[in-house]
Amino acid sequence: MRDSRETFVNHAFVTGYPIKHSRSPLIHGYWLKQLGIAGSYRAHEVAPEAFPDFMRRLRDGSAGFCGGNVTIPHKEMAFELSDRPDELSAELGAANTLWLEDGRISATNTDGRGFVANLDERASGWDRISTAVILGAGGASRAVIQAVRDRGVRTIHVVNRTTARAQELADRFGEAVEAHPIEALSEVMADAGLFVNTTSLGMDGEPAPSIDFSPLATGAVVTDIVYVPLKTPLLRQAEEQGFRIVDGLGMLLHQAVPGFEKWFGRRPVVDETLRQVIIKDMDVHA
Ligand code: ATR
Repeated sequence: MRDSRETFVNHAFVTGYPIKHSRSPLIHGYWLKQLGIAGSYRAHEVAPEAFPDFMRRLRDGSAGFCGGNVTIPHKEMAFELSDRPDELSAELGAANTLWLEDGRISATNTDGRGFVANLDERASGWDRISTAVILGAGGASRAVIQAVRDRGVRTIHVVNRTTARAQELADRFGEAVEAHPIEALSEVMADAGLFVNTTSLGMDGEPAPSIDFSPLATGAVVTDIVYVPLKTPLLRQAEEQGFRIVDGLGMLLHQAVPGFEKWFGRRPVVDETLRQVIIKDMDVHA
């Protein structure tokens, strides 16, 4: 009698343009090995004009993938072309995680979950606050605003060089969110318990402005979603001024968890060894 058991090997991707600098293959490769799963996860570069065709081939199975991650510049198109976007991705208008179910492409956005999971891990109790300040109003800011709001923070001040962009986000995310020009930064920081940098200020050794964090509440947490360098100039300043700091690497690691679970059926754990694997890679490519 023939053995009817079949071995399914799932293959997942990360796509973007360009994609070669992505650290996601290292993260998922680590978990596949750790959990002894015979699957694969690889970078797959797709140019913007080819993305609709990639989605079609993902849906009909001819691409050979069960799902994957999507990064810049495809996040908006991934949401628009998916068949079953969830509420999180619909509010953001952007998806970073896709998976196939019954010939349909489901979509979500895990950036916000990664952001709060990182704070939960490294600054437990951070959410016992009523006010947060978020610097920046780009794509990354949206997921952070959504996640902080959904955690129940009552007032979220979004401060941006271009105030109109902050206002767009205040309109999108509801009454908890207030938009401000950059000149108002010091004023809105008064007694806030969380400060988040979502801009590229201080990234890759670029200079960053000095910020006086002293208006923040005692014991406030300062975090940066930039993780290269790990301790950004803003985090360094905040630490010197006596505040708790959380670097952005954990957001990258934790945002990967829900996708892995969808594609490979096991919930992976973000551990210190994984963190060190990525830090080592950052040192090599510094
Ligand atoms: P992302 O999707 O990574 O968030 P983005 O959409 O380009 O990228 O947004 C970058 C953010 O960094 C914006 O808030 C941007 O401010 P503007 O909306 O005014 O452009 C902010 N930013 C970038 N460089 C900046 C600088 N030198 N000073 C202040 N803000 C800066």
